[in-house]
Parts: sequence; structure tokens; C-alpha cells
Amino acid sequence: MSEPVVLGLESSCDETSAAVLRNGRIAGHVILSQDVHELYGGVVPELAARAHLAVVDDVVRGALDEAGMTLKDVDALGVTAGPGLIGALLVGVAWARAAAFALDRPVVPVHHMEAHLFAPSLEDPEARPPFVGLLVSGGHTLLLHAEAWGRYRLLGQTRDDAAGEAYDKVAKLLGLTYPGGPQVERLALDGEADRHPFPRPMLRGDQRPGDPDYFDFSFSGLKTAVANQVAELEDDDRLDQERAHVAAAFQEAVVETLVAKTMRAVEVTDCRRVLLGGGVSANRGLRQTMRERLGDSGTVFRSSPRLAVDNGAMVARAAAFRLSRGEVAEDDLVADASLPFPGLRFDEDAGNPGG
Ligand code: KG4
Ligand code: ZN
Repeated sequence: MSEPVVLGLESSCDETSAAVLRNGRIAGHVILSQDVHELYGGVVPELAARAHLAVVDDVVRGALDEAGMTLKDVDALGVTAGPGLIGALLVGVAWARAAAFALDRPVVPVHHMEAHLFAPSLEDPEARPPFVGLLVSGGHTLLLHAEAWGRYRLLGQTRDDAAGEAYDKVAKLLGLTYPGGPQVERLALDGEADRHPFPRPMLRGDQRPGDPDYFDFSFSGLKTAVANQVAELEDDDRLDQERAHVAAAFQEAVVETLVAKTMRAVEVTDCRRVLLGGGVSANRGLRQTMRERLGDSGTVFRSSPRLAVDNGAMVARAAAFRLSRGEVAEDDLVADASLPFPGLRFDEDAGNPGG
């Protein structure tokens, strides 16, 4: 039996994207990144919402054209309902609701971070639970154990800045434009990390499972350390010659911390399948270090860079799962900037399996 055709719509931040999923495969996909934010060094919420509104019709049409379909061929509409920027989310949700009403089709609300979990499965059917999931994006850093699709145990999260946010802030300090992650990564290739020994945030050898900070992350102190270093180098007129080294040292500190905490989760859950999701999972250093540390007895699942950052295909994929469980929205669906992660439970014992 063929699976329902799902249109996925993503507008939670600064990408407007739509995708058509037919029999579990991407039949059409358009991702439009807003470049207006480059001017301001970060996403300006009001501008993001307006830009989504200006292009959403064309983005959906583009995805349908590529699939050789029209809206009438779509069986259900999946849309990111949160978390994200409220004005930006509203554009997608209002669009999906209107289309669903006109076509008499269901709308399936999708949680943006759960969609990131589904992204690798678009390219690799093996990328399914059980796995230890590390979600690293511009707004979130989450470490979880996925026991099954829809059943997740939260192990750790960031206490302040998200990993992607740290990349973007450091990029700004180094004079690079937004979004900073890919540029810091490129610059770091020409640098030597050991020239600037930055701290490994919230990573100490004396932490034990059950400690409240065993799995948690914190990146704001690292950002401050980089800011202080940059200010010092600027005073000495040495920033230009040290820029790549600072980028490399910052990246090593972030990657080392993310990988070390993920490996703790691997040990505690005894699950050697690791899934990387979110924009920062496009980082080659993170992927390589994760693979090396996990070794041959483990598997790292991750998307190609295009599907690692925000996109409509992962939304369609997550929507297909929720639809298969009959989870469709009522008529009163609204966008929710802080939508709770569905099926995610915080387990007090998460880090303390031995009691
Ligand atoms: O998942 P995503 O596209 O959007 C959010 O949900 O936030 O993630 C965007 C974040 C940005 O902070 C961006 O700088 C970061 O992912 N990013 C990267 C790389 N590509 C994107 N960070 C490090 N290395 C990369 N190659
Ligand atoms: Zn995202």
C-alpha cells in the first residue's frame, strides 16, 4: 500500500522551506535561506517573518513543481508549530491551516527539534531508534536517548547558549558574517588549536553519573573566554595573524565537549548508535571526532549538510510519523514559540543507572 503524500513546511527561523514526501522519499524540496540577516549579524525576528510571508507561496509551488504535483495531490500538510520565532512560525502555520481548510486535508503539527531527529532517516533507513541523539542547532543543545520514535529520555541540555549560538557569536567576534558556523569551520582549517587553550565547558574528570552537570552543556563561558582573547589580540594588533588559530581552538573546545558528553551517554545507556542532528551536525570536525571516538563497534548517523540545517523534508518526515499515529491538529492549531518536545521525558535517574 502506498504511503500518504505529505507536504512539509518549515518557517521557524530564517529558512523558508517546503518538501513533498512520496512513499517515504523526497520528491520535491526547496530551501530558501534569508540573507537579509547578514546585515545585522543575527536573525531579526520581524524581518524573518516578513521574508517568509513574501516567499512561502513560491517555495511551496517550487517543491510541488519538482515533484510533478499540485496541492490537490497532497494527502496531509505537516508544519513546524514550534519552537522558534513566533512571527516566523505563524507564517507557516497560517499557510498550512489555510491550505488544509481549502483542500479538506489534515494538518500535522511538528516539533522542530523532533524533525531534526528524523532528518538522517531520509537518507539512511538504518537511522532509527534506538540511538543516543545529540541535537545541536542555533537555539538548542539536547542530549537524549531515543528508545523508539516518539519515546525519548532527556539526558542533558545547555544551561545557557546553544552550540550553534556560540558558533555565531564567536564568528561575530572574529569579524565573520551570519550564520557563523560554516565560516568558523572553514577558518579553523588553517589554524592550530593548541595556540589558544580555551576551557572545555562543564567538562571535568571528577564528574560522575548522577551529578546534575554530568550530561549538561554550557557555552557562554567559552564565548567570554574567546571574547577576552580576541580583545587582547586586538590590543596587541595581532588579531589578523591569530584569527584562524582562535577559530580552531574554539572549535576544538566545542567539539571535544559535545563528543565527550555524548560518549558518556553511550556508556550509560549502553547504546553505541549515535545520531547527530541540527545545523551544527553539518560540522565535519564534529562528525569525524564522533566517529573516531565511537570506533568500529559503533555507528554515527547524520544527514548530508543540506538536510542537517533547517529544511522542509525533515518536517514532512516527522509529520508522516505523527500522521501514522493519527496525530492531526484540531481546527484551533496555533504556533507555540516554546512548544514542548513530544514524548520527551526528563528522567531524574538518567545519569544514575546504578542508583
Ligand atoms: O538547525 P539549524 O539550521 O537552525 C536552528 O534550528 O537553529 O542550525 C543553525 C545553526 C547556526 O547557529 C549555524 O551557525 C550552525 O547551525 N551551523 C554550523 C555549521 N553549519 C551550520 N555550526 C558549525 N559548523 C557548521 N558547519
Ligand atoms: Zn533547526
